[in-house]
Amino acid sequence: MSNKKNILITGATSGIGFQTCKLLSPEKFNIIGTGSSKKSCANATKKLNSDHIQIFDCDLSDNNSVHQLSETIKSQFKTIDILVNNAGTLYVKPQLDSKGIEKTFSVNYLGHYLLTRLLIKNILNSNSPRIINVSSVAHKRGVLDLSKLNDVNLTSFQAYSRSKLAQILFMKILSEKLHTKNVTISSLHPGLIGTNLLSKNGFLGNLLTVGHKLVGKSTTSGAKNVLFNIEAENTHNKYFSNSKNEKLLNHANDIDKASELWDFSAKLCDLPIKLEI
Ligand SMILES: NC(=O)c1ccc[n+]([C@@H]2O[C@H](COP(=O)([O-])OP(=O)(O)OC[C@H]3O[C@@H](n4cnc5c(N)ncnc54)[C@H](OP(=O)(O)O)[C@@H]3O)[C@@H](O)[C@H]2O)c1
Repeated sequence: MSNKKNILITGATSGIGFQTCKLLSPEKFNIIGTGSSKKSCANATKKLNSDHIQIFDCDLSDNNSVHQLSETIKSQFKTIDILVNNAGTLYVKPQLDSKGIEKTFSVNYLGHYLLTRLLIKNILNSNSPRIINVSSVAHKRGVLDLSKLNDVNLTSFQAYSRSKLAQILFMKILSEKLHTKNVTISSLHPGLIGTNLLSKNGFLGNLLTVGHKLVGKSTTSGAKNVLFNIEAENTHNKYFSNSKNEKLLNHANDIDKASELWDFSAKLCDLPIKLEI
């Protein structure tokens, strides 16, 4: 029997996620990645050129697509040892998804909430499970008003920072719900990294991406910060910025808000509020 760990990394087709796949040891990990389209998955699979990596397409803003992905994964892998909720985007002009939810929130947070819940039994099947949310320092400026998730009259930064705050609150509430289980849940800021994060914005996105890549650090630097959370001890229920533990500000530590977010997300995903484990 193989001693390799199964690691699932969303957003493995580009930037930090792609580089993390490259840096993970093939002797230790069997990598399952995701990307937003069949085309980007095929390109990344070709570039990574390794028989220990499979990449599946899934649009995280679409609940049906997330259900399909989880069914595919469950049919092939009984255990997911590590889930890295890394995929992300930023829409310069906030827009709604098919559920009527602002799409940055739905890709960066809600799709990951649904995926994590659908795979939770497979994750807890591991001897030393980990769940890692790739958030951002931007969460510090995030404001989460659940009555405004369908509001597109906010700036792209407001939408992005809100989604990144939600990822941290998700870590908090999931840690509470799983407190009797041996699971390590953490979140992180990977650094300012030159990637394609701003690219899904047409021509403006191309220009912004050039600037982002000029000022940002290498994807290797970002991936190393993800690897830290994959490997380090004592990371549970903590937030790391550039691999250093940082105390959360009050609004990111607010367990009542985190609980409200959990219940609201369950409704948006047609899931029971109670986590079945
Ligand atoms: N770069 C930074 O400075 C920075 C700073 C702080 C935090 N972060 C966080 O780091 C994470 C990785 O981003 P990155 O900087 O590496 O950006 P990136 O190069 O654009 O990679 C983003 C990944 O997310 C996937 N993705 C985008 N929209 C999706 C959707 N609707 N459904 C499913 N997957 C989708 C992309 O897939 P496709 O390529 O297939 O579309 C890609 O694999 C994000 O969570 C981001 O918020 C980045």
